[in-house]
Amino acid sequence: METLILVGGRGMLGQAIRRRAEVDGRAVAVLDLPEFDITDPQAVRDGMPAQGWVINCAAYTRVDDAEAEPYLAFRINAEGAGNLARVCAERGQRLIQISTDYVFDGTRAKPYVEEDPPSPLSVYGRSKWEGERAVRGAGGKHLIIRSQSLFGSGGRHFVGAIHQRLAAGDGPLRVVDDQVSAPTYTPHLADQILRLADARAEGVVHVSASGSCSWWRFARAIADLVRPAAKVLPVSTAEFGRPAPRPAHAVLSNARAEAITGHRMPTWREGLASYMRDDT
Ligand SMILES: NC(=O)c1ccc[n+]([C@@H]2O[C@H](COP(=O)([O-])OP(=O)(O)OC[C@H]3O[C@@H](n4cnc5c(N)ncnc54)[C@H](OP(=O)(O)O)[C@@H]3O)[C@@H](O)[C@H]2O)c1
Repeated sequence: METLILVGGRGMLGQAIRRRAEVDGRAVAVLDLPEFDITDPQAVRDGMPAQGWVINCAAYTRVDDAEAEPYLAFRINAEGAGNLARVCAERGQRLIQISTDYVFDGTRAKPYVEEDPPSPLSVYGRSKWEGERAVRGAGGKHLIIRSQSLFGSGGRHFVGAIHQRLAAGDGPLRVVDDQVSAPTYTPHLADQILRLADARAEGVVHVSASGSCSWWRFARAIADLVRPAAKVLPVSTAEFGRPAPRPAHAVLSNARAEAITGHRMPTWREGLASYMRDDT
């Protein structure tokens, strides 16, 4: 079986893909900082095995900080993705690039399909969109998978933060109620990514949990499992005030991925239940 080269493999999603791939008995080579830096074209050429296919999970992911350091976000998310894609294209290696719902502005009432035009609101979203364009522009065999609102073991995320505050007895919690997405459990996403890879899917495919909810609804569901009596108050994005603008309604349509793999993504509630059972 061809080796899976997992770039950014020590990040949150990378770890989930690695675990899933190893359960399947696949050979996996993990590349990540500090020994492998996607922003250095020569290091990519020298450090990446010439045999095998590639998933790029490496990214600058601090959405709010990116507003203050756009140069770094673009260097990693756009130029870095391009460096990988060019080497893959030259060597005929397949590349799966992980992208985000933040390429959209969130003004569409219906779930976004892959053909919808991106219109990112934030530096992070623009840098990821440039990364997609760089991957496409390199001209090699590629698949761009957009997902959203990830949570799982081995990373910093909303579920972990809310869980920690509930366990510490903090309250009442104030959580944004006017941003809707589909919080996606990384092992569920990892499964679907590997199914899409096995199906040799190409182009752009959206993958997220089934269903959707606001961050407030999601926090309420976490509290119901951890501390049902806890107060969780809905607030608006404007009241909350964060540096980076975020899409208000960025639900992704799973139809294409499910048609390709024949596998329906579990709901965000199923993802949350699995996380609470297996990862806390
Ligand atoms: N988290 C989400 O909610 C979310 C939602 C939608 C899409 N995504 C996308 O999903 C992918 C994985 O996200 P994640 O949450 O797993 O991110 P993560 O936990 O931040 O992992 C990213 C990994 O990339 C590494 N990295 C950063 N800069 C690098 C560089 N120059 N060269 C090589 N490796 C580098 C990081 O290393 P250091 O830790 O040492 O910096 C880290 O191990 C990203 O493409 C992200 O944009 C994430």
